[in-house]
Parts: sequence; structure tokens; C-alpha cells
Amino acid sequence: MLEKAKGLAADQVFLDLEDSVAPIAKADARRNIVAALNEGGYGDKIRSVRVNDWTTSWTYRDVIEVVENAGHNLDSIMLPKVQTAEQIAALDTLLTQIEKTMGFEVGRIGIEAQIENALGLINVDAIAAASPRVETIIFGPADFMASINMKSLVVGEQPSGYDVGDAYHYILMRILMAARAYDKQAIDGPYLQIRDLEGYRRVAGRSAALGFDGKWVLHPGQVDVANEVFSPRQDDYDNSELILDAYDYYTSAEGGARGAVMLGDEMIDEASRKMALVISAKGRAAGMARTKTFEPPTD
Ligand code: GLV
Ligand code: MG
Repeated sequence: MLEKAKGLAADQVFLDLEDSVAPIAKADARRNIVAALNEGGYGDKIRSVRVNDWTTSWTYRDVIEVVENAGHNLDSIMLPKVQTAEQIAALDTLLTQIEKTMGFEVGRIGIEAQIENALGLINVDAIAAASPRVETIIFGPADFMASINMKSLVVGEQPSGYDVGDAYHYILMRILMAARAYDKQAIDGPYLQIRDLEGYRRVAGRSAALGFDGKWVLHPGQVDVANEVFSPRQDDYDNSELILDAYDYYTSAEGGARGAVMLGDEMIDEASRKMALVISAKGRAAGMARTKTFEPPTD
């Protein structure tokens, strides 16, 4: 799996020391991860390691062993089941000490915070603001469902019996607001039915539509769907570039110095430009090519 991950079209790879590793295998897993990171081959993918959460006895050794031995080949530490800002501060302090000891650049290694229980969610604003190292706020649906006693075993799908909306809406929005308020990325967690790509598409589509920046993949088969769902539709991407060009033109002296104009059947103004910037940035990041160009009126 570590080898295979190198060739996948994912933006990030995270190597796990937490829930996918049996307790008696944790020590070996640390060594495997250090070796894999130092062997390299991840190209420009972000390389992250998920350590165990602070309520276990493993966290400090996970961090020390991995960062001391592979810190220069590592971009972030993912901290699961974060419940308070203090837990972020503790990891920040530990990382700073290791960076100083090892002569690494202080502050380069980021922190990715998984929100996986009620306390984490009600503290998510403080968690997002706890350190400049925090780069992402990640929803951990499996642990979260367990922690709130949700009556379902199928991660990400609506619990049967709840037929009046999206049972995850509040949680997703809460995380998204904290992420946007503090300029962090909002990431949706795993979809466990790895063969059900339509299910993945449906669940990913919800967080993507709200504004999340990405979603985990657990299996190579989920990668293409994830990239597709989190990229704009071609039509939306084309329109976003069109709006940006049109608005540039109309607000210029040559275009009449106008702040609100008609583009086709739609009025566009500064807020339209801001919306277009979001979609165009996602399209450009995904390497999309535009298929329409703006032609200034000739009369
Ligand atoms: C991920 O860690 C989850 O619990 O969903
Ligand atoms: Mg979890």
C-alpha cells in the first residue's frame, strides 16, 4: 500500500499509526513509516503521518520517533480525536522542541486536526485558531457517529429513520465555518464502502457542494471520483473565467468603469467576481482548460 500510494493521482498521502494499526503492531509501524518516508518517491504529494490521539500512551513516541527520524521528509502530523485547543498546543510545543533539537526549520511541519467527537466539534473554532501550524480541519465521520451514539453503522450515509434532511449538515457546516474563519482547509473524512463508487460520489458531492476542499480516499478506486467531485463542472469553470474577464473589462475605463453589468442574462458585480474566483481557483488547481473566451462588445 505504501508503495502503491506513490503512483496515485491523490494530492496527499497519509501514513497511519492510529486506528488502522493494531496496538501490538504500533512500534513496527513507526519504523515502517520512517523507512517509507525516507525512501521517498511521493513526488509533490503532501506527506502526512497520523499519530495516535493524546488520550493514549503512544502519541509522544509516535511524534518523536517519526519526526526525529523522517522530519525532513514529512509535511504534516495528523492528530486524531482532537478535543481541545490545548491538545494542539501540546503537539505544537513537542514539534518545536524536536525541530530545534534536530536543526530542522521551526514551524515547517503542519498539523492536521481531526474532529471526531462532540467536544472536538464544540471547540472547533479554538482548535482551528490554536496554532499557525494547523493547516486542515478534518471531519472523522466514523468516530464521530460512534461518539454521538448515531443509530447507524454505515459511515457517511443518512441514518435510517432520519428522513427530514441531512444528518451531517450541522457537523459539516460547523467545521467549514471554523476552517473558513481561520483560513484553514476543510476536509471530509472516509467513505468505508470502498466498492460503492456511486455512494462515494453522493457523499463526497455533499461536502464538495458546501465548499469543502477535499475528501479522504481509502482505496485507489476512489481517487478519480474524488478528483472529479471536487473539481468544478466544465461549464461552471468556463463561466467563472468568463465572469472574471468580463468584470475586468467592464470595470476598466475602456469598458465604461461599471461595477454592475449584464453578462448574458445575469447581472454580475463584485460579489459575482468573488464567487468566480473560488470556482476558477479550483479549476486551475485541477489543471482544467477553459473552452470559452470573453469577447468585448464591438459597438
Ligand atoms: C476517521 O478517522 C473516522 O473516524 O471517520
Ligand atoms: Mg477516526
